[in-house]
Amino acid sequence: MLSAAIVLAGATLGTRAFADPVDETLEIDGVAITTVAPAPSQPEGHPFEEVKSGWLYREPDTRAMEADSFENPGMLNVERGEEIWNTVEGEAGKSCASCHEDASETMQGVGATFPKWSEATGKPINVELQINRCRAENMQAEPYAFDAQDQKDLTAYVKHQSLGVPVTIDLAAGEMMSWWNRGKDRYYLRTGQLNLSCATCHEGYNGRYIRADHLSQGNTNGFPTYRLKQGNLVSLHNRFRGCIRDTRAEFPDAFSDELMALEVYTAWRGENLSVETPAVRQ
Ligand code: HEC
Ligand code: HEC
Repeated sequence: MLSAAIVLAGATLGTRAFADPVDETLEIDGVAITTVAPAPSQPEGHPFEEVKSGWLYREPDTRAMEADSFENPGMLNVERGEEIWNTVEGEAGKSCASCHEDASETMQGVGATFPKWSEATGKPINVELQINRCRAENMQAEPYAFDAQDQKDLTAYVKHQSLGVPVTIDLAAGEMMSWWNRGKDRYYLRTGQLNLSCATCHEGYNGRYIRADHLSQGNTNGFPTYRLKQGNLVSLHNRFRGCIRDTRAEFPDAFSDELMALEVYTAWRGENLSVETPAVRQ
C-alpha cells in the first residue's frame, strides 16, 4: 500500500528514497529551539520514542532561512500581525492592545498551550477561533473568514510570542480526552481512493521521500508556517485539508469538529517541541 501510494503520488523514489532527519541544533534570535524531545508518556501509546521537528527534515537552504529571522519571509507576516494587534476595529472602538497591551508580555507562552478547552463553547478552541471570539465579543468586529490574510498574520504574531516555549496541552481540562480519542481515531483512519491514513505517511513512511518531499512526523509546532511553494503563510487546517486531499478524499471544513479533534491529537503528538512559528517549509 505504501509503495502504491508513493507511485500514485508521483514520488521520485531514487537513491534518496530514505534519509534520516539531520542531527543539527536550531537557534533563532538567540532563543534555543527544542527540535528533538522525548515523546509525551501520557496518555500511553505514542508511536515514537522521540518527537522531531519538521525543520530537521528540510533541505539546508530552508533550514537556514528559518534560523535567521531576517531571511525568514514569514517574519514580514508577523510584523503585519503586530500592526493588526494595534489597530482599532469594530463598534467597541478597541484593538487587541486595548485589553491585552504588550503582546510580548501578555501573550508570552500562551500560543504553546493551544488548542485548549473552552468552557464557553464546550469544545476545544485554537488560536484562530480565540481571536474570532475576541473580535466578535470584545471588539464587536466581524470574525475573520477562514484563512483571511489578517487571520493568518495575527495568529502567527500571537504564536510567535511563544517562540522556543515547549508545546504543552492540558488534556485534563473539560472533555479534552474525548477529543483526543476522536482525533486519534481520525489519525489512523484510512481515507480516499489511495486508502491512506495520516499514520501511513507520517509514521510508516516517516523519513521517506514523496514527491521530492521528505516525510516528517507531521508535527504542528511551527504553524502557521511559511511555505515557499505558496509564498505565504499556511494555516494548520489548510495543511490538514491538503494532506487529506492528497489521499484523494473529500476534505472537511476548517474548524469542523473533525479537524479540531485532529488538532488536539496532533498537538499532543508534538508535545515538548518548541513553538517555531513562523516555521519555514517547502
Ligand atoms: C475588550 C477586551 C478584549 C479585546 C479588545 C481583545 N480581547 Fe482577547 N481576551 C479578552 C478576555 C477577557 C480574555 C479571556 C476570556 C476569554 O477567553 O474570552 C481574552 C483571551 C484571549 C486569548 C487567550 C488567552 C489565554 O491565556 O488563553 C487570546 C490569544 C486573545 N484573547 C487574543 C486577542 C486578540 C488577538 C485580540 C484582537 C483581535 C483580542 N484578544 C482582543 C479580552 C479582550
Ligand atoms: C500521502 C502522504 C500524506 C498523508 C496521508 C498525510 N500527510 Fe501530512 N504531510 C505530507 C507531506 C509530504 C508533508 C510535507 C513534508 C513533511 O513535513 O512531512 C506533510 C506535512 C504535514 C504537516 C506539517 C509538518 C511540518 O513540520 O510543517 C502536518 C501537521 C501534517 N502533514 C499532518 C497530517 C495529518 C493530520 C494527516 C492526516 C489527516 C496527514 N498529514 C496525512 C504527506 C502526507
